[in-house]
Amino acid sequence: MCGIVGAVAQRDVVDILVEGLRRLEYRGYDSAGVAVVNSSGELTRLRRLGKVKELADAVAAAPVTGGTGIAHTRWATHGEPSERNAHPHVSSNITVVHNGIIENHAPLREALQAKGYVFTSDTDTEVIAHLVEEELKSAASLLAAVQKSVKQLHGAYGTVLMDKTDASRVVVARSGSPLVIGLGIGENFIASDQLALLPVTRRFIFLEEGDVAEITRHSVRIFDSNGNAIEREVHESNVSYDAGDKGQYRHFMLKEIYEQPNAINNTLEGRLSSDSVLDETFGNGAAELFKKVKHVQIVACGTSYHSGMVARYWLESLGGISCNVEIASEFRYRKSFVQPNSLLVSISQSGETADTLAALRLAKEAGYVGSLTICNVAGSSLVRESDLAFMTRAGAEIGVASTKAFTTQLVGLAMLTLAIGKYNGLTAAQQRELTEALKSLPGKLEQALTLAPQIEALAEEFADKHHALFLGRGDQYPIAMEGALKLKEISYIHAEAYAAGELKHGPLALIDAQMPIIVVAPNNDLLEKLKSNVEEVRARGGILYVFADADAKFQSDATMRVINVPHVADILAPIVYTLPLQLLSYYVAIIKGTDVDQPRNLAKSVTVE
Ligand code: AGP
Ligand code: GLU
Repeated sequence: MCGIVGAVAQRDVVDILVEGLRRLEYRGYDSAGVAVVNSSGELTRLRRLGKVKELADAVAAAPVTGGTGIAHTRWATHGEPSERNAHPHVSSNITVVHNGIIENHAPLREALQAKGYVFTSDTDTEVIAHLVEEELKSAASLLAAVQKSVKQLHGAYGTVLMDKTDASRVVVARSGSPLVIGLGIGENFIASDQLALLPVTRRFIFLEEGDVAEITRHSVRIFDSNGNAIEREVHESNVSYDAGDKGQYRHFMLKEIYEQPNAINNTLEGRLSSDSVLDETFGNGAAELFKKVKHVQIVACGTSYHSGMVARYWLESLGGISCNVEIASEFRYRKSFVQPNSLLVSISQSGETADTLAALRLAKEAGYVGSLTICNVAGSSLVRESDLAFMTRAGAEIGVASTKAFTTQLVGLAMLTLAIGKYNGLTAAQQRELTEALKSLPGKLEQALTLAPQIEALAEEFADKHHALFLGRGDQYPIAMEGALKLKEISYIHAEAYAAGELKHGPLALIDAQMPIIVVAPNNDLLEKLKSNVEEVRARGGILYVFADADAKFQSDATMRVINVPHVADILAPIVYTLPLQLLSYYVAIIKGTDVDQPRNLAKSVTVE
């Protein structure tokens, strides 16, 4: 699920390609590479292990030039992160970058080796280069060779190829991972995300599944999966790229944590009346669809899955409607029963997560009454392919660990609860109460952020820890899961979350004086039950860190640190209690000295399954 950038221009494109990669680094940062062909047909390739900065430094040290080029930032699936496995990969004339996985790479590699091709990397990608080289022997053009080759590839991929004997064009193919063509004047571009191309154009064509396209300086020819020439709409993008600057913050993650009150303000803006959610919030036809809906099926991955889990509590307890939530990678490979009048809700920051997208596509065939996505990226695949879209307006999220995308998703899901609930018994008084609560949210989050110095001090106690447990009940259970995921992702401390009532069924065996246990304890109707679970831990010598409402009356002592979180309406508690846990994982990671914004082995946008 790498980042891809390509260009066909008169001018030198190396800086454009490297800047594009810098903007796509969120998609993978195992290695970066660029290859350009100049007008004399000379190919130059530079690759570096590690981040785009390594490549940029190499380019600065040994300038390369060329008007046609392709570049890649890798998230390794086949073959370790190393320079020899870095893209672009080369057969003699053909150079390729590739996003995704070629599932049948092993038999293809064998067949190509038998024909004499020598492989220089462990990647699945290299088979594409040799296969196209082979097909080109009998094909009339690079385009025809790629069309023949993609028929032999199984898997999910986006790929861009060039032939050094003809620098006037690149050929691209999309099957399962996004590619967007950027239209310039006398020059054209390709990328896996429009963000990469915003410095050079705002006019984009989003390729569809199965498309193969040939791009020259003056033309774009697109063919669908049957090989028929096809026109695709040109979109004028108004996406902004405001992510370059960390401002006063040391990391993007910290900046994004602090942006949450504002992001939520933006997400709420123009969507609430004095006593309800406006019908237009979920797009044209939403009200008609919501009237029919009798069941909600949520699909998502990672952090977005956790927001879906919270939504299930809300939709069932307030929205008056049944709801299932499932991890998209499970949902897509399971034969599931579709309830009558069921709405498929996908949740995703990026809108490109391969498993979530596949789940949406499957659902389309399966008889859902409609689909809605809660998403942060305009123009993304989920937004384009869903019947309805709720944009979370969090702004670009750069830190790999999701923060503001999560809390704005929760805001969207709370509004969805209101929008669906009003057809299922949510009274006018309840709607007003929830609406007012949502409007007070940014202020509550500002208050929660003032806990930072306390949490920073407390993080010291985690410096030598290898494990942690997070506990919550009800709609705080997913918040405990999210807290554990954040700690794992950026501090590399092994952390698990349990519904607190489940502790006695096994995990209690883990408790000793080395095990920190983090508890989220708002003052709700499960508080007394939670207190009993806390006592079970205390009795076994665990060290407790309790994030609680002051009215919950927890007392700090030798085995328990209590951090008071602002008092909030029940529906807001999952959102507000998330912030201290984000801050905790951030400060622990700082102490551990990890790469907070780009933690090891991860990528921001997971476009492989
Ligand atoms: C969150 O911190 C993650 N890095 C990850 O779990 C993420 O939420 C997941 O990959 C889903 O991404 P999406 O929201 O873009 O679909
Ligand atoms: N499967 C390819 C590799 O491991 C591409 C990975 C990616 O999408 O970055 O090199």
